[in-house]
Formats: sequence, structure tokens, C-alpha cells
Amino acid sequence: MKGLILSGGKGTRLYPLTYTRAKQLIPVANKPVLVRVIEAIREAGVREVGIVVGPTAAEIKNSLGDGTQWDVALSYIHQASPDGLAHAVKISREFLGEDPFVMFLGDNVIEGGISSLIRDFTGNQWNSQIVLKEVDNPSAYGVAKMRPDGSIEQLVEKPKLPPSNLALVGIYMFDHHIFEAVSAIRPSARGEYEITDAIQWLIDHDYTVFPHIHRGWWIDTGKPTDMLDANSYVLEEITPCLHAAAAIDSDSSVDSRVTLQAGAQIVNSIVRGPTIIGENTLIENSYIGPFTSIYHGCQIRNCEIERSIILENSRVIDIDSTLRDSLIGRNASVKRSSSKPSGIKMNLGDHSTLWV
Ligand code: DAU
Repeated sequence: MKGLILSGGKGTRLYPLTYTRAKQLIPVANKPVLVRVIEAIREAGVREVGIVVGPTAAEIKNSLGDGTQWDVALSYIHQASPDGLAHAVKISREFLGEDPFVMFLGDNVIEGGISSLIRDFTGNQWNSQIVLKEVDNPSAYGVAKMRPDGSIEQLVEKPKLPPSNLALVGIYMFDHHIFEAVSAIRPSARGEYEITDAIQWLIDHDYTVFPHIHRGWWIDTGKPTDMLDANSYVLEEITPCLHAAAAIDSDSSVDSRVTLQAGAQIVNSIVRGPTIIGENTLIENSYIGPFTSIYHGCQIRNCEIERSIILENSRVIDIDSTLRDSLIGRNASVKRSSSKPSGIKMNLGDHSTLWV
């Protein structure tokens, strides 16, 4: 069994954060989504993993290297343009050979890992297994229609009139027959080679495709609100831990659901979990509320923050109102200004949003 992670594409819905960073490297609970995907695959016993990369290849390679750190052997597969998930499979043929494989979209976060799925697939003679989840907004995803016997009748990508509320989760298992399918299909109306069309081709040619209905949470981290939701779910799941090299002064209160990483410093502050404070981050005279992840090297002074994600080396200082449901990028500065004339000053990147 091999693993294939799809990490190409531009991540436009996460602008401005993804102008300068691959969306799959944005951390959720202080760990990049892509690293969570690698760990889930490794936990299921798969060690040979290919990563399809696009314009952000250099940054992804730089962060992941050869995979030794996670006890996997990583191979990089370059996709010249994001022509679709089925196209990504097609160009990975040499790496995958005749082995069955699990394909995991590099921006998906799922509860509970994939070990049982892989066991199901390898224990049966199916040609493909897909993962489905009941959702309120099926039009945003690939959607499956099932037959009364539980098998799949139809798959359709982002339909205006969804035939069911069962969305395709970004985890798929295939044997080598998928290569016939990805070669046979044509581009969709949006110009992509859709994996849903390739799986439909398998169904239409009498190959066996079985669904697994996922009951836990699942997030496709496409938009900022999705990142915040994924962050909340993962923070609830992790086992809190105070690193020996973290410091809490006697005027602070830090509850038992807080994780402090090496060098985190809490001074005269209240921190309520589930929350994670990154390496060498300083929290001073502040309140940090539940569902917040503050990454490495940040400074937070004289402010209140709840249910937010703040990336590395950013500073949030002397802010009167509570900062909540916010996503702040790297090396950003949010400060109070006392200079006249008064008013709100900003220096926002393209596609930024500010609510006042
Ligand atoms: O997340 C689940 C959904 O993922 C499924 O329900 C849909 O059926 C499936 O098409 C896909 O839809 P998205 O619109 O969310 O796909 P997105 O373009 O965001 O790409 C998913 C991942 O694959 C992302 O990490 C980028 C990568 N990718 C995407 C394309 C189009 C590639 O590596 N190459 C590509 O050509």
C-alpha cells in the first residue's frame, strides 16, 4: 500500500495568507495540516508516500524534506498546472506502480485517523473505497447517490441540485484500475479532470466501489472559517501538555486544558483551554480564551483573544476590544496607536478583511 497526498493548487480562498505560503502548511493547533495528513497515513502503517506539488513546491519540500522525521519516505511529484485531482493521479503513475494506494487531499483534517479504512480496503477485493459524510451544504463538494443496497449509483462534483447530502471526503482508496479511468475521462465544465468522474467511470465499467460513512468530524480547510473550525476540533482532541521549558509566573492562571510549548512565557495573564501557545511566545497582561492557537515567536501584550489562530512572529499589543474568530498571518502587527489625528490605520494585504 502506498500513500498519495495532493498538495498542489493555489489556495485562493485563503488569500491573503496563501499569497506567501502553501495552504496545506498553515498550522491547525500549531501543526501544519499537511503534517497531520502524513501522520494519519503513517499511523495506518503506510510508509511510502508521494506528494503532488505545484507552485508552492519549494516551500513544501523545505518544510517536509525526505520525511525521515515522520518515519516515511517522501517522493515529490510535480504537477505543472492544477488540472484536477484525476490529473494528479495520472501523473503519479510511475511512483504508484501497480500498488493499491490511499489518496488524501492535503487540506483535509479528519477525526480518528484512517487505520480502519485501510484495514477494510486491504481486507476486501474492492477496486476503490470512498469516504462519505453527511453535510448541510453538499453543493460545495463531490456528492454521492447510493442505491438501496448501499452501493454507489452516481457521483457528481459540486452539483447545484445535490442528489443527496452525502459529501465526498478527501480520502480515497484505489487499486491500479483507476489509471484506466483517469485516462478515459474528459475535462469537466470547469476544465478539471475530476476524480468523481474517474470513480463514476469505475462504477459504469462494473468495478467495485464501496463507501465508508464517516461519523466523526471532518473539515476541508478551504476557507478561513474552516481553519477556525478545524482548529477548535483539533484543540479539543489533543492531550494538553506543559513543556518543561515553558514558564508561568505566580500572577497568572493557566487551566488544565492548555498546552504550552518550549519557551512559552505567561506573565500576569489568564489562559483558558483548549488552547495552545507556541515556542518562545510571550503572553503578558492578557486573557487568552478557549479555541486559540498562537504559534511560535509571538508577542501578545495587554489584550484579550478568543477562538483565533495567530501565526509565527506576530505581535498583538494594547488592543481594547476582544479579538475573536480571527486569523492573523506571519510577522503581522496589530497595535494601538496614540498619535493624532486619531482613527483606524491599516496596512492590509490584498484580499484581506477587517471587521470594525
Ligand atoms: O475536500 C473534499 C472535496 O475535495 C471533495 O468533496 C470534492 O469532490 C473534490 O473535488 C475536492 O474538492 P475541492 O474543491 O475542495 O478541491 P481543491 O481544488 O481544494 O483541491 C483539494 C486538494 O488537492 C488541495 O490540497 C489542492 C490539491 N490539488 C488540487 C487540484 C485541483 C492538487 O494537488 N492538484 C490539482 O490539480
